[in-house]
Amino acid sequence: MYYKTNPVFPDNFMWGASSAAWQVEGAVSEGGRTPAIIDLNSKKKKPFTDNTIAADHYHHYKEDVALMAECGFSSYRFSISWSRIIPNEDGKVNAEGILFYNNLINELVANNINPIVTLYHYDMPVWVDEKLGGWLNRDIIDAFDHYTRVCFSEFGDRVQYWHSLNEQNMQICYGEWLGVDKGCTDWEKDKWKINHIMNLCHAKAVIACHELVKGGKIGPVPGYVPIYPESCKPEDQIAAMNAEELTEKVWNDLYAHREYNGFIKKFWKDHNIDPDIRPGDMELIKQAKIDFFSLNCYRSNVAKDCKPNENFTELQLNKDGVKGGFIYPKYPGIYQLTSNPYVETNDWDWEIDPIAMRYMLRYVWDHYQLPMMITENGFGAHDSVAEDGHIHDEERINFLRDQIYQVGMAIMDGCEVIAYNPWSFTDLLSTGNGMAKRYGLVYINTTDEEVLDLKRIKKDSFDWYSKLIKSNGQNF
Ligand code: BG6
Repeated sequence: MYYKTNPVFPDNFMWGASSAAWQVEGAVSEGGRTPAIIDLNSKKKKPFTDNTIAADHYHHYKEDVALMAECGFSSYRFSISWSRIIPNEDGKVNAEGILFYNNLINELVANNINPIVTLYHYDMPVWVDEKLGGWLNRDIIDAFDHYTRVCFSEFGDRVQYWHSLNEQNMQICYGEWLGVDKGCTDWEKDKWKINHIMNLCHAKAVIACHELVKGGKIGPVPGYVPIYPESCKPEDQIAAMNAEELTEKVWNDLYAHREYNGFIKKFWKDHNIDPDIRPGDMELIKQAKIDFFSLNCYRSNVAKDCKPNENFTELQLNKDGVKGGFIYPKYPGIYQLTSNPYVETNDWDWEIDPIAMRYMLRYVWDHYQLPMMITENGFGAHDSVAEDGHIHDEERINFLRDQIYQVGMAIMDGCEVIAYNPWSFTDLLSTGNGMAKRYGLVYINTTDEEVLDLKRIKKDSFDWYSKLIKSNGQNF
């Protein structure tokens, strides 16, 4: 559909940005926080980079919130570090952790910025792994329930919007990358057990939010990579549907319909997989009615037919930011992914595809009819400070302009979208490339090799985004 005007955003649309605790906070051993599994990964698993300091948001939160206010934010999506709130197996609440998030939330509220809180963004406490057995053991369900209830009780008077787990689908699809496969002996089978345990954690969080937070709303945050068939060859369309099911739809159907869909039940049967669903589990999941979908979307994919006699090829992320390093996977008899000749890519071979944003919003709206917010979307780049002391990130401005325009087009198409929170406000650690792959509207003066003065410098994209959001999406 073409329209005669530029898109119009609703009056109460929330504009902000996004972050995650382990990627932005630093201060990993301060304020009573105990280590998280991701801290250990970041020290030894290249190209993860050490998160001991990151953007040092823990010590700079006031300055960061002041910059958000200057930019004109009405929302900020961040995550809480589980091991700051519950540092040990005894379940005792860490007052210093509560204080830090209270201070951050109060600062946001004082500046009319809606806090949007994610309860889990990849940072499992080491004690959960060592004492309880991590994601493989159902004991995590009660431990997570205890932690989320503390968060709802402590912060629910000021936080209306909550997220359960960040990118559960990506954690299962790329378990090795994010360390979720720790302790597994047969990942292809074990991952569905872990996924079921994650679903129970999600369900309990949804139920507890509605119980403890007056007017509270909660949703999941799938990582979304819209998938096009390579051609109109019917086999390619089926391959694209397979890819869609096995990377996103299985999860989204569960969240929205609160039952496993027919595709995955048949897949488990055919592959002799037992996800260990116990009596009472599905009744619990059935009670967990989400209020909205949050969506992380950076790029798109193309799928094509993959004959059963093809060789399996594992997906390999581009880990150094030199174009051409990304390896598309092949799953014999199911689907394979391939490049898209119609779109540009960034230095990490991620497709730059603004229309995928509109496609995704239309797709999710058509399937689930729930309000949506964008919780991640952004342009990772090798930014540097120019001789004039500024950061001229024109490519990021172009990326954001085109993406936001397509969010607007989806709204024009009739989708209910309530917020746009790109990744990220300040530079922070990329999962793949630390500070070498920067996403922020605000530059942090530090590198992976050497900790510098951590000065905050507004990039050109900060000024552009500020003008856009102060005009409620009119001043492109
Ligand atoms: C999202 C994650 O999938 O992608 C973030 O939720 C992550 O944690 C972001 O940082 C961008 O990916 P990367 O690898 O470039 O940091």
